[in-house]
Amino acid sequence: MKIELVTDATAGGKKAAEYFLAAKQDGVKTFGLATGGTPVTTYAALVAGEIDFGDAVSLNLDEYVGLGANDPQSYAAYMQAHLFSQKPFAASYLPNGLASDLAAECARYDQLVAENPIGLQLLGIGENGHIGFNEPGTSFDSSTHLVNLTESTIKANARFFARENQVPRQALSMGIGTIMQAKQIILEAYGEKKAAAIKAMVKGPVTEAVPASVLQRHENVIVIVDPAAAAGLD
Ligand code: PGA
Repeated sequence: MKIELVTDATAGGKKAAEYFLAAKQDGVKTFGLATGGTPVTTYAALVAGEIDFGDAVSLNLDEYVGLGANDPQSYAAYMQAHLFSQKPFAASYLPNGLASDLAAECARYDQLVAENPIGLQLLGIGENGHIGFNEPGTSFDSSTHLVNLTESTIKANARFFARENQVPRQALSMGIGTIMQAKQIILEAYGEKKAAAIKAMVKGPVTEAVPASVLQRHENVIVIVDPAAAAGLD
């Protein structure tokens, strides 16, 4: 793993956007995208820059079950607001959280990923070490699947909702096996709440108890962290 220490999330977003531009210039056609608080500065930097995704494809990591694109809390709506409305892709895909047959939706999404191999995947990390919505204990071989969110994730994400009981209890997420197929991975983390997860990811044993630790087995991972998130590293 290559560690990029930045002063703050704004600088980190600019750094991540530089990697996007380099990947694009290198011929990458498919970008794996993430939601949550962390990538906001990355999308702001991409929107402010010259990058053109008009010939590229995006595939998001995950979506809440039960929320459609018209719901402002859906990840589809988040992506529209932060990136797609200003930097449209030729095609953008997210799992469909309203699908009536969730197993079939997972299979459809895996097929999309197979048809559009991801050149660069953006990731955040949960305080419990999750990547995507792959909670501790998820198999490293997993493909897109239905997830029961843990209490810690529900609590962490409640800040985006008016009330905690509005946070969906389930999500569809690319699996860890899916994520590991990406040619290059950028993981961003900012703030002291992420320090323990970053330390476990970088220095701890590779274990399904810490999903992000699997990234030690990937040959092209860039970790962008601010000093607070890097506090447990040397
Ligand atoms: P956050 O979430 O960016 O909102 O902190 C990261 C994650 O849970 O992967």
